[in-house]
Amino acid sequence: MHKRNEPITMLTAHDFPSAHVADQAGMDMVLVGDSLAMVALGMEDTSEVLMEEMILHCRSVARGARAAFIVGDLPMGSYEVSAEQALQSAIRLVKEGRVHAIKLEGGVEMAGAIHKITTAGIPVLAHIGLTPQRQNALGGFRVQGKSTASALKVLADAIAVQEAGAFAVVLEAVPAEVATLVTKKLRIPTIGIGAGNGCSGQVLVQVDMSGNFPPRRFLPKFVKKFGDVWGEARRAIEAYKTEVKERSYPAPEHTYPMAKEEFVEFEK
Ligand code: KIV
Ligand code: NA
Repeated sequence: MHKRNEPITMLTAHDFPSAHVADQAGMDMVLVGDSLAMVALGMEDTSEVLMEEMILHCRSVARGARAAFIVGDLPMGSYEVSAEQALQSAIRLVKEGRVHAIKLEGGVEMAGAIHKITTAGIPVLAHIGLTPQRQNALGGFRVQGKSTASALKVLADAIAVQEAGAFAVVLEAVPAEVATLVTKKLRIPTIGIGAGNGCSGQVLVQVDMSGNFPPRRFLPKFVKKFGDVWGEARRAIEAYKTEVKERSYPAPEHTYPMAKEEFVEFEK
């Protein structure tokens, strides 16, 4: 697809049904992002999610996605210590989580880990620009690469992960001009999120783009709400509540009959 200049589509999934629908809708890649910490587990941020939890969710996604290439996020704390730790965690996510590839956050400083994992035969998707696992060091969720110096850092990180063996790189919250130029300078595809339409592909968090979330959740500028899944689920549940309260559900067509003679006997 990259060679054909065809945009690559990627979407997160965090369980069997969300993976199944993404796969059926034709997503090229499915990401078990550690954003599941917030959208599936109700945590404050991604720093809390455990390797065991990522593995459990990866396993259910792997059963739901048949055609898509499945990537799983290495959670914070599972890969930063050393390249060996990173490889061990990557192997766990493949063997136990049943994903095809792993994603980890970081550029130049992660080149050693990326090299170690890819030479062991596990494809790595890199993730640079805004790296949410480092939000406290970055001073929150901020666009990266706005100044010349920080744009040069994004480019240096992109080249470093490419040379280390990453098959593609996620660019998160980077000005479109920077992401477009970085994409032109790389051989590997870029997957953008909040990085404009000059990337080789796009990724979004499924619950955000499908509107499957309480309306008050903060959504970054780059998220487009393509649906209202939460509203639809709420309408269905409210209709169910109303029909149970007024005894219009279950109706005769939802009810198992008994032969009249049998009932007469039973009633005696
Ligand atoms: O965790 C996640 O969902 C991600 C994508 C938004 C890139 O890392
Ligand atoms: Na992530």
